[in-house]
Amino acid sequence: METLTSIAGLRDAVREARDSRKSVGFVPTMGALHEGHVSLIRAARQRCDFVVVSIFVNPTQFGPNEDFDRYPRTFEADSAACESTGADLIFAPQQEAIYPDGFAAEVRIGGVTEVLEGEKRPGHFNGVTTVVLKLFQIVLPDIAFFGQKDFQQQLVIRKMCRDLNVPVEINTCETVREADGLALSSRNRYLSDADRQRALALSKALFAARDELRSGATDLHTAESSMREQIGRDPGIEIDYCVLRNARTLKVPASTAEPLVLLGAIRIGQVRLIDNVLVDEL
Ligand code: PAJ
Repeated sequence: METLTSIAGLRDAVREARDSRKSVGFVPTMGALHEGHVSLIRAARQRCDFVVVSIFVNPTQFGPNEDFDRYPRTFEADSAACESTGADLIFAPQQEAIYPDGFAAEVRIGGVTEVLEGEKRPGHFNGVTTVVLKLFQIVLPDIAFFGQKDFQQQLVIRKMCRDLNVPVEINTCETVREADGLALSSRNRYLSDADRQRALALSKALFAARDELRSGATDLHTAESSMREQIGRDPGIEIDYCVLRNARTLKVPASTAEPLVLLGAIRIGQVRLIDNVLVDEL
């Protein structure tokens, strides 16, 4: 496995793989890799002949009061995880390579970016789509792998590819969880033991609401209010949103006949956590 930091070097390596008729799989990440990321690399390894993992903490997707500066940077461990999962290449560019002096572009996708995370984190998805489109142009993958954990993000990327004719297949992989249900996240490491226990309320509420809906509950409002009530019992948790939405559009559903997803975002102290659970298989 090789680690490359230059765009030209990366392009050469991928071209060589392509010249030997290898399919190219791509897993974009911000590092601090855990089993969730590893599952994406494994999926890429299974479907593609040549697997590229990018590690780049993208400044443009963080708001001014967010955690860009203290986002965990653990390159040695990340590199070992990529190597042992069978990645062929790590692309770890410096900020100046991606955003050189005078850089003045932005990719903005409408619609699905305007609710939930988009509303709570203004500009976040513009940063995500800008960097992901750039990374796609640099790597030119056949298939890119994203986690369901960031449900809205994978919808936004799919929409970008459709709306801008980006010839990359998007593969969404299931959320990897701890045994007690907590979705793995690079931000979990900021949680104290007590707060980690608190954080379980989110996945518990999502799964409980899913089970109710699956067993025939048809009242959409009750699903939301019972999640909020359950999580709201702990005064140490602040709810950003906790909703039931159409799983393709993220619009408020008119009935349970639509494909549904439950999504939540909470804050525990300084730490913001998101999670989601599909009611219907897509
Ligand atoms: P990052 O948060 O590092 O996540 C990289 C990928 O790992 C994303 O597709 C995310 O959904 C997936 N992932 C995270 N936790 C997961 C879990 N518990 N189970 C399964 N997959 C999980 O998402 C980003 O980086 C950035 O926005 C990026 C797309 C790299 C653009 O900068």
